[in-house]
Amino acid sequence: TDSSFIHPSILNADFMSIGAELDKISSADSVHVDVMDNHFVPNLTFGPSMVEQIVERSRIPIDAHLMIEDADNQAPVFAEAGASSVTFHLEAARAPVKLARDLRRKNAQVGVALRPATPVEPLIDIIGEFDMLLIMTVEPGFGGQSFLETMLPKIRRARRAISEANLEVSIQVDGGVSRETIERCAEAGANVFVAGSAIYKAQDAAEEISALRELAGA
Ligand code: DX5
Ligand code: ZN
Repeated sequence: TDSSFIHPSILNADFMSIGAELDKISSADSVHVDVMDNHFVPNLTFGPSMVEQIVERSRIPIDAHLMIEDADNQAPVFAEAGASSVTFHLEAARAPVKLARDLRRKNAQVGVALRPATPVEPLIDIIGEFDMLLIMTVEPGFGGQSFLETMLPKIRRARRAISEANLEVSIQVDGGVSRETIERCAEAGANVFVAGSAIYKAQDAAEEISALRELAGA
């Protein structure tokens, strides 16, 4: 893949001013919306009606990252809410191929996410069913954690397998992505970069987005 994308996560944005927080990142490629159900991860965030309102308010597409159990039944609801891409966790899906096809039928791009301890190898034979592979670089649940360096070889192995299969699947990294870590992710083969605290803690979110874009080689 030759293009890179920056997806700010609104997990650590100011929820009382969500409209203004969305305006700050309108120069990015997509808004990363972290959906948590307090079961798959120990935190609770947005439901489908909130996602629908974010879709209406945002000037850029919505990339929904579902950290929820029962992905098979719940993920299609987020495609119906208008998310442009819907990523579910492999650990939470009973029939990931069927689910990917259901989501594509609802006109969403489909991502599959892996927690740090989940190996990429079992996915290799079905990777063509997805538009994106999300390799978590922290344990999912919270923003502001530090980047897991040990995920770099996993990114590399995934990129190699995707190229060998002659596929064009994006690799997204999420967790602890910043000016300090983004170049190594890009070198390893990631091309979609989620950054939450790096962007929302910056003085100027737009400037941070362009700095990250530059470092990612976009
Ligand atoms: C963590 C979420 C991430 C989080 C990233 O479970 O999936 O999207 O918001 O935040 P930072 O960039 O602060 O690690
Ligand atoms: Zn996320």
